[in-house]
Amino acid sequence: MRQKLVVGNWKMHGCSADNRRLLQALVSGLPAAGNTAVAVCVPFPYLAQAQSLLAATPVSWGAQSLSEHAQGAYTGEVSAAMLADFGCRYAIVGHSERRAMYGETDAQVAAKFVAAKVAGITPILCVGETLAQRESDETLAVVTAQLDAVLDVAGVAAFAGGVVAYEPVWAIGTGLTATPAQAQAVHAAIRARIAARDTAVAAGLQILYGGSVKAQNAGEIFAQADIDGGLVGGASLVVDEFLAICQAANR
Ligand code: PGA
Repeated sequence: MRQKLVVGNWKMHGCSADNRRLLQALVSGLPAAGNTAVAVCVPFPYLAQAQSLLAATPVSWGAQSLSEHAQGAYTGEVSAAMLADFGCRYAIVGHSERRAMYGETDAQVAAKFVAAKVAGITPILCVGETLAQRESDETLAVVTAQLDAVLDVAGVAAFAGGVVAYEPVWAIGTGLTATPAQAQAVHAAIRARIAARDTAVAAGLQILYGGSVKAQNAGEIFAQADIDGGLVGGASLVVDEFLAICQAANR
């Protein structure tokens, strides 16, 4: 059985004092045993804080993006090696907010995915359709094209032990969620797409759902066969809510 994974995506929220309270409450509230791994992806300036507070705990940490370049004259960018230097296990790649607001292309997303892998960081590759694309029945075409763009560059072996997050754009931060059946259909399609290249890699792939996951809907979403946990935005900032989501994954 695949291990479940719940990842908090703090986005551009937090300050040292709040982060400390949140992370300490998270660590002390997590169940001692279970089949669920937990991680938080924090803003870059707080990676050192996450590292010092989480290093001796079962909670992993990561970044929300990274540069596709190894080093050089890229003002404002952060490399994969720098993330590794702060103990990051994960880096989110291709979040829809990065694609929509900062113009990240499929080619850049693929390059970032590879850069993370080179540094030993597990990329969490985000894919997902807009409402207009869903309404015109393009969901699977959009999601598979986003996936193929990375598969073609990185190769299927780069997805071994990997993480993909299906995040319908229309469900992010809106309070709308895909129904469990809608999400499961896309997750199954993602796994099938990978299986067409390598069945063992597909079987081990953790496919997370993201988009308004809350304590109240997490259980039914995580009960789907191809949903291996969640990428949680807003609810990851409220420790009781996030803990309840982690517990829902554990069932
Ligand atoms: P949300 O965000 O849970 O606030 O909808 C999810 C995400 O963008 O990763």
